[in-house]
Amino acid sequence: MGIDALSKNDPSSFSNTEDVVVRHAHISWLVDFKKQTLAGSVRLTLEKVIDTVNKVVLDIKDIDVTKVTFDGEILEFVKGPTVGTFGESLTITLPVNVPKTFNVIIQYESSSKAYALQWLSPEQTAGKTHPYMFSQCQSIHCRTIMPCQDTPDVKFTYSAEVDADAKLTVLLSGVSTGTPEALPGTTLRRHKFEQRVTIPSYLLAIVVAKISFRTISPRVNVWAEEQNVEAAAWEFGQAEEQLKFAEEICGPYEWGRYDLLILPPSFGYGGMENPCITFVTPTCVVGDRTQADVIAHEISHSWTGNSVGIKNFEHFWLNEGWTMFVQRKIESKLFGEKHRHFSAILGLNELRNTVNDSKHPEIETNLVKNLVGIDPEDVFNTVPYEKGHTLLFYLETLLGGPEAFDPFVKSYCQHFKGRAITTDDFKAYLYEFFASKKDVLDSVDWQTWFFGLGMPPVIPDYDKTLSEQCTILVQKWLKCPEAEIDTLNSSPGYKDLSPLQQREFFDQLGLSDEIISIKKLEKLDEWYNLKTVRNTEVKFRWLRLCIKAQWEAKIGDAIEFATIQGRMKFVRPLFRSMYAWPAARDRAVEAFKAHRDEYMYITARLVALDLHLET
Ligand code: BES
Ligand code: ZN
Repeated sequence: MGIDALSKNDPSSFSNTEDVVVRHAHISWLVDFKKQTLAGSVRLTLEKVIDTVNKVVLDIKDIDVTKVTFDGEILEFVKGPTVGTFGESLTITLPVNVPKTFNVIIQYESSSKAYALQWLSPEQTAGKTHPYMFSQCQSIHCRTIMPCQDTPDVKFTYSAEVDADAKLTVLLSGVSTGTPEALPGTTLRRHKFEQRVTIPSYLLAIVVAKISFRTISPRVNVWAEEQNVEAAAWEFGQAEEQLKFAEEICGPYEWGRYDLLILPPSFGYGGMENPCITFVTPTCVVGDRTQADVIAHEISHSWTGNSVGIKNFEHFWLNEGWTMFVQRKIESKLFGEKHRHFSAILGLNELRNTVNDSKHPEIETNLVKNLVGIDPEDVFNTVPYEKGHTLLFYLETLLGGPEAFDPFVKSYCQHFKGRAITTDDFKAYLYEFFASKKDVLDSVDWQTWFFGLGMPPVIPDYDKTLSEQCTILVQKWLKCPEAEIDTLNSSPGYKDLSPLQQREFFDQLGLSDEIISIKKLEKLDEWYNLKTVRNTEVKFRWLRLCIKAQWEAKIGDAIEFATIQGRMKFVRPLFRSMYAWPAARDRAVEAFKAHRDEYMYITARLVALDLHLET
């Protein structure tokens, strides 16, 4: 049975995309900070797939639709019942005479609760003087800011006119077309944008804030609040170089600009691959450039994900697994093949943690999902990333190494450019490309790779040079009798490790069956200056280890770190492990409740689930 049998359509969407599809959206928005809404209209250009279609079904959530027209004629519309986090259907009845391609204009206003948006008060920004608003539409939040076919199966171009306070900058996930114009008699300016490459709805993005930029190269600007922009521009100074490497791997960059936006600390992700403007967490700006891998990752999505898309989120691994693969190819070009392998080892650590902690392995640890009735975000974790990467690396090794696989990577990106594919499409093209190696491909246990639970069936034999240096130090710490701890202070070790190796050091300590004693943790803290560590990846692992070892004195630090920033990768595991430990549980729950409104909607919802505050 083909994988496609799982679902023909997108189980997250109400849209009747088999009958009619959106080709273009023309957006008109007024950004209202007082009401916390986007008000205006969208003109959807639709194309009939079947001639007899008599209605358009769109996705909406918490949207107030006031009027729908076709050619000036008012159309009837009806909103369906709310289905969990999926929202509602919006069914528009079409007149009999609509041509093959036609426009409908929908007037509407978003809700102040729109899941896609976060509205920050001036106090919540670095500058403290102006409010800030940004969006996050992936996975299924676009429907809270625009009636649309909210499925990655449908790709459309868009144009937009956005009116906002003249003191603020507006950026969208497209290119700006002309300088903003003041609107006479108001305090507003009108900004115009266009995205000429077709995109799925989840890549629509907007930011409205007091921000400025520094230029890295003719196509790369780094945007942030003025206070943070210099540091950010330094941290991501290699973006252009990474972009060029990505082009060597995947083919020409087709999106024109590649800008970066550093968001306020509540941004829930490391990065988000919004076209023409990647969104990045400020927790990556740590002063050592070691988190440039996040940029390599988002750059890679320009091909894997944004160009070669997915039919629905059941095949999300094609986005993220492929992107991890291309990201690590870029890392190889920057720092060498050993580094690429080391980065994969760090990824496997995360995968092990996810698999070990999984409460619902049957939906959380398989690569290809059945998402009927399941919100894609409820099963979001490292599995599509790292199991996906492991499969691709395994295939590379099996098929003859980078020399044989590199041409396939480029060809895959070109072959499926602009399309929305499934796991079966990927597999079929792999067989087509490597037709002469059919026997080798037939030896792959596809069933287990795609649908098996837990760790991948094969773990590649990665180069361990860089991780072994960490293993030696980890063993020293674990094996050392308590009475002799002081001998570890003088031995060389931690400070000679690179920041990435420091991550590995704490990963290994955390993944070991042996739990390190609190006495040893106290020494680690003191000798390695862990109270002041700036690298957030290291800090997170350190605090996770302290909680795992049940060191009570560190609960406060863990809570502080989980509440001053909102990156889910850090926040969720810390809250979860505090919840699992009775001595920390109440304090963690209380802290979360006190800070709940400062997180993005999705972070708050998922942490609330983790803390059993909601079902
Ligand atoms: N597209 C994702 C972020 C995302 C995934 C948002 C699912 C909403 C739903 C982005 O490209 C990503 O993977 N970010 C990672 C970066 C890391 C793997 C380098 C992150 O946020 O940690
Ligand atoms: Zn990604």
